[in-house]
Amino acid sequence: MRILVTAGPTREALDPVRFISNRSSGKMGYAIAAQARRLGHDVELISGPVALPPPRGIRVVNIVTADDMLAAVKKMVRRCDVLIMAAAVADWRPKKPATRKLKKASGPPRITWEATPDILKAIAPLKKKSQVFCGFAAETHDLAREAKRKLREKNLDVIAANDVAQNDRGFESDNNALTVFFADGRTLNIPLSSKANCARKLVRALADFWAQKKK
Ligand code: C5P
Repeated sequence: MRILVTAGPTREALDPVRFISNRSSGKMGYAIAAQARRLGHDVELISGPVALPPPRGIRVVNIVTADDMLAAVKKMVRRCDVLIMAAAVADWRPKKPATRKLKKASGPPRITWEATPDILKAIAPLKKKSQVFCGFAAETHDLAREAKRKLREKNLDVIAANDVAQNDRGFESDNNALTVFFADGRTLNIPLSSKANCARKLVRALADFWAQKKK
């Protein structure tokens, strides 16, 4: 199976020295890429800025902004069977980032924000019948309801939801717990364990789902 994974945060410049980003270490996405490779799949990884070594045997495309990630996904998505969007894309960016460093002495800047592109929504029309798109949902409350809404609104086949209100999992942690919702109504619980273990179970479930869809 050919798997395209996105991982890590994206960054949007406020000025040449400052940015807004998301709290993401990239560990979950990198674990997915590494485990998918170990399971014998062809893997490509699109990564935001992270402090992790590139996983072995995997082509990594490094990007910074949401626009960069959208362009890379658009270019690479055609040749994958399964897309796993584990990246934490920053939702807003300054409409006009300052071209010169904002001076502290001028006081807190007034920034006009705009939304970054929703990558999954933008690429939904490109999805081929045989492809499986899996998103992630990091939630602090109403996990199941929010995840199911995103599954529908982003036209996904699968969404992996994780509870980020608890500090023994998610974000910078090496552990995670996932509730995986499938568009056919099925749910899979992956209990608290290493991100490597969560990743392996998720990839196996996606491989099964893809094989079913192909029939
Ligand atoms: O809407 P929310 O950010 O919670 O949705 C999370 C899912 O959507 C993740 O799979 C994430 O990679 C993806 N996403 C996206 N484009 C954005 C924001 C999130 O594709 N601008």
